[in-house]
Amino acid sequence: MLPILRFPDPRLKKRAEPVRNIDESILRLARDMAETMYEAPGIGLAATQVDVHKQVIVIDVSDTRDQLLTLINPEIIESDGSQTGEEGCLSVPGVYDKVERAERVVVRYLDLEGREKTIEAVGLLAVCLQHEIEHLSGTMFVEHLSRLKQMRIKARLAKQAKITA
Ligand code: NI
Repeated sequence: MLPILRFPDPRLKKRAEPVRNIDESILRLARDMAETMYEAPGIGLAATQVDVHKQVIVIDVSDTRDQLLTLINPEIIESDGSQTGEEGCLSVPGVYDKVERAERVVVRYLDLEGREKTIEAVGLLAVCLQHEIEHLSGTMFVEHLSRLKQMRIKARLAKQAKITA
């Protein structure tokens, strides 16, 4: 299991580079990220969160936990509508809040064999795709919340870190 960076670690603000070559190190990263996501447990994880600044995300929103999606260089090419749901993040443990997102997205990406694919998603999967893709550009879901809420979250996580340190 890979260690997960916690908000407000400045490394979470780094912009991930596109993957040029899907080599053994990328395959290993994708495997380790999936294992880390399932173990946590979570429904999505971006490479940024494990301090690897490459454009790789893993997602599984299924109840059965057997519908793993690995997306390399994901890019939202269409989005419309809006939905608001509670979000959480493995980098912001214990914090859930409402965020407005597009209802439907189409994402273009490469799979692990380097084939170009598109996925169309609505509902939770659409939210998760937007949340994870945003991580790759260094943005956290809490940045959609008010300044006051962000300050409270920072204070709460700092307190937690003190207790567990
Ligand atoms: Ni997250």
